[in-house]
Amino acid sequence: MKPHILLSPPHMGDKEFAFVKEAFDTNWLAPVGPHINAFEEEFCQITGAKAAAAVSSGTAALHLALRLLDIGSGDDVICSSLTFIATANPILYQGAKPVFIDSESTSWNMDPQLVVDTLNQRAKAGNLPKAVILVHLYGQCADIDPILEVCQKYDIPLIEDAAEALGASYKGKAPGILGQFGIYSFNGNKIITTSGGGMLVSDNPDAITKARFLATQARDPAPHYQHSEVGYNYRLSNVLAGMGRGQLQVLKDRVAARRQNFEFYRSALEHLPGITFMPEASYGQSTRWLTCLTVDPQATGIDRDQIRLALAKENIESRPVWKPMHLQPVFTDCEYIGGDISAQLFQHGLCLPSGSAMTKSDLERVTQAILELY
Ligand SMILES: Cc1ncc(COP(=O)(O)O)c(C=O)c1O
Repeated sequence: MKPHILLSPPHMGDKEFAFVKEAFDTNWLAPVGPHINAFEEEFCQITGAKAAAAVSSGTAALHLALRLLDIGSGDDVICSSLTFIATANPILYQGAKPVFIDSESTSWNMDPQLVVDTLNQRAKAGNLPKAVILVHLYGQCADIDPILEVCQKYDIPLIEDAAEALGASYKGKAPGILGQFGIYSFNGNKIITTSGGGMLVSDNPDAITKARFLATQARDPAPHYQHSEVGYNYRLSNVLAGMGRGQLQVLKDRVAARRQNFEFYRSALEHLPGITFMPEASYGQSTRWLTCLTVDPQATGIDRDQIRLALAKENIESRPVWKPMHLQPVFTDCEYIGGDISAQLFQHGLCLPSGSAMTKSDLERVTQAILELY
């Protein structure tokens, strides 16, 4: 059997181990320590965020954002439908109700016009949502400005889920820093990883101080253990923050490698009938965290799953595009606004192996398997 090619495995640089070793050497092994502060500061420098809190996952960061915005029982939260479930679950943790919005085809992200129309209609009806969660999918920013504008018009906080888009740009800025809160993930499959981890950013340093408090069991300042509100165990450990510091140093290289993967796939496969690559919107640069494409079975009789299975036979991992949230059994009762763009992307979309350590021969194995099928 040929070696397994994974979808998006971790890729360490030269410095991660030295930072982790430093944590061991200095015995900063508890979930506090100097790497955490340094990781937060360095993350702010790279993204342009004002303040950041390093936490145990992107999901935890989202949960904290909703908690800080006081989202609670019965509140509506507008949310991208085409995403990983981690975006929407924290809405349920807070007892609120997601309202899912379809994608637009130029970026595959939340359709800004649908958000504008929905908020205008809801403003007239007097039932504005309590927040909007906007996802930046597969390394590409959503069209943030029109969504931010309508959110500001009605004073609705915007949370940017940039879990998949660290290193991307929107009109020259990093995703995650334009809304009230931004979140990122350092899960093992992300462009940089701490094996598991996340970051919450905001322009409001007080909100980030409160996030750190909530993330450490909301312990009141007292010599004994006293708690006046419900908190969580959500802080990132000092060891993993060390890994994150090393990974931040290679972020630019990782973006360049992923974009090169995309170019390789595009030049090898774009001539095939029925294959269309995820477009790159003109307002920014995608990291191409994952190279995604759609397969139109009408064009050749070959569908997405045939490609996926042909790759699996060669010991190559690929994955269907996210199944939209409005089609998930757990969200059956939730409101959905839009048409069938996200459903079509799910039905026909495929993510190819995109790790930043892929070699030319790995990439050739992937494209060869697809070309042979055709
Ligand atoms: C869009 C999106 N949001 C949120 C998350 C959650 O991040 P984590 O796995 O770090 O909790 C992920 C990835 O896992 C994601 O892809």
